[in-house]
Amino acid sequence: MTRLFFRVFLFLINALLACAAGVPSSARRNCQRSWKECPENTVIVSGSNPEAHFSTVQAAIESLPHDNSSRTILVLAGEYTEQLNVTRPGPVTLLGQTNDLTDASKNQVTITWAEANHDNTGQNVDNVFSSVLVVAPTLDASYTGSGPTGYPVPEDTPFGSINFRVYNIDFRNTWSEYSDGPAHALSLSRANGGFYYCGFYSYQDTVYVGKLGNAYFYKSVIAGETDFLYGFGTVWIQSSEILLRNCGGGITAWKGTNTTFENKYGVYIVESSVKAANASIAPHIVGKCPLGRPWNSLHRSIFANTYEDGSIAPSGYIDWIVDGESRLNNETFMAEYCTFGPGFNATGRASTNASIVLSPKEYAPYSSPWKVFQDPSGDPGNAHWIDWQA
Ligand SMILES: *[C@@H]1O[C@H](CO)[C@@H](O)[C@H](O)[C@H]1NC(C)=O
Ligand SMILES: *[C@@H]1O[C@H](CO)[C@@H](O)[C@H](O)[C@H]1NC(C)=O
Ligand SMILES: *[C@@H]1O[C@H](CO)[C@@H](O)[C@H](O)[C@H]1NC(C)=O
Ligand SMILES: *[C@@H]1O[C@H](CO)[C@@H](O)[C@H](O)[C@H]1NC(C)=O
Ligand SMILES: *[C@@H]1O[C@H](CO)[C@@H](O)[C@H](O)[C@H]1NC(C)=O
Ligand SMILES: *[C@@H]1O[C@H](CO)[C@@H](O)[C@H](O)[C@H]1NC(C)=O
Ligand SMILES: *[C@@H]1O[C@H](CO)[C@@H](O)[C@H](O)[C@H]1NC(C)=O
Repeated sequence: MTRLFFRVFLFLINALLACAAGVPSSARRNCQRSWKECPENTVIVSGSNPEAHFSTVQAAIESLPHDNSSRTILVLAGEYTEQLNVTRPGPVTLLGQTNDLTDASKNQVTITWAEANHDNTGQNVDNVFSSVLVVAPTLDASYTGSGPTGYPVPEDTPFGSINFRVYNIDFRNTWSEYSDGPAHALSLSRANGGFYYCGFYSYQDTVYVGKLGNAYFYKSVIAGETDFLYGFGTVWIQSSEILLRNCGGGITAWKGTNTTFENKYGVYIVESSVKAANASIAPHIVGKCPLGRPWNSLHRSIFANTYEDGSIAPSGYIDWIVDGESRLNNETFMAEYCTFGPGFNATGRASTNASIVLSPKEYAPYSSPWKVFQDPSGDPGNAHWIDWQA
């Protein structure tokens, strides 16, 4: 009897937390299908419909108060050429209008921007300025920086959005059709962000999740060529597609951080697929794409229960040798757990020190978002911001 009460109690708590971010899922779906049915206070964006509140997404973002209230923006079908920057601490939900709520390949809203971290004269800026979407409380918090520990973000920097969400929107950085320097589709730091049925397209460094960034991707598409999942934070990619538009560097390139507590910063790709972006590129990259390489020695990434097509290199992961120095050491954690498909070559994996194949016991500490997402002070279980009903 007590156990039943406890379960009902847990269920109610979870339901409350799930809705706390904004509109409940049925209302959210109705709003995405038919904008006249959106809850009051929803901010509507359209590049063409004069009834909308704003004609750009960034104008809608800037109209929101800088406080802790929950806010929702619906973007009507269309292509928007702009850079987005979300700094407010409260929950923000960006909805894309769509008729196919559960299929990212049919998204009708695209945010496009063409920029790398350099211009055609070679003039360099920090990688963050290339991003289509930035989610971070301040400019300092969003800098990538360089060196093994990256940009030294000031200690007193506040946390950004505690619950940022996007549904059914594609983000495309169209700077070039090949790797030509960092060109982010997303940059998220010091914030919790959930991306559901979204697309992220670029060639190099597509998705950057920086310091104290927590990002969850669900049934989304992430496409790139070189180091296109990189950063310092924590990422869980669930039931999604990783698309190889060519091979370069690795798919994952993480920089770990020494902390006073045991951290699980890294990228976890789970029950997903990794494959050539299309049939034209596939024959050119057979056996050539590394799963990842260590941006610093503390790199942590795991591909788990994930399909790998024939594009993956026999060794899986590779070392990253800079000035003759290997970055591999006993703390480098570039792993797979129950990956399958033509891209998994057991002999190849065994022939290198770069790739680790985990046993169930070794994978267990990382086997759910509740185990890997931590709050800034290192407490685990920071997954309440994830929409489990999406
Ligand atoms: C938002 O909430 C946090 C935590 O409760 C609080 O520290 C902060 O001052 C609030 N921010 C604003 C802008 O109200
Ligand atoms: C994002 O907006 C904040 C607040 O206006 C600004 O300080 C920061 O420079 C912007 N970030 C980028 C990358 O432009
Ligand atoms: C296939 O993907 C490559 C890499 O993104 C791209 O250059 C090419 O245009 C795509 N081809 C087709 C037919 O979509
Ligand atoms: C982490 O600590 C080890 C041991 O002190 C040190 O060798 C390494 O350079 C540190 N790495 C980073 C990224 O701070
Ligand atoms: C790696 O090796 C160093 C030096 O031998 C040792 O202090 C450290 O505990 C080892 N770390 C792991 C994760 O095994
Ligand atoms: C698997 O890897 C081994 C060792 O690298 C290599 O000799 C073999 O050709 C690979 N098999 C396939 C099917 O790629
Ligand atoms: C793997 O590491 C061990 C111990 O450091 C070393 O003896 C061995 O040569 C390495 N193997 C490869 C393939 O690099």
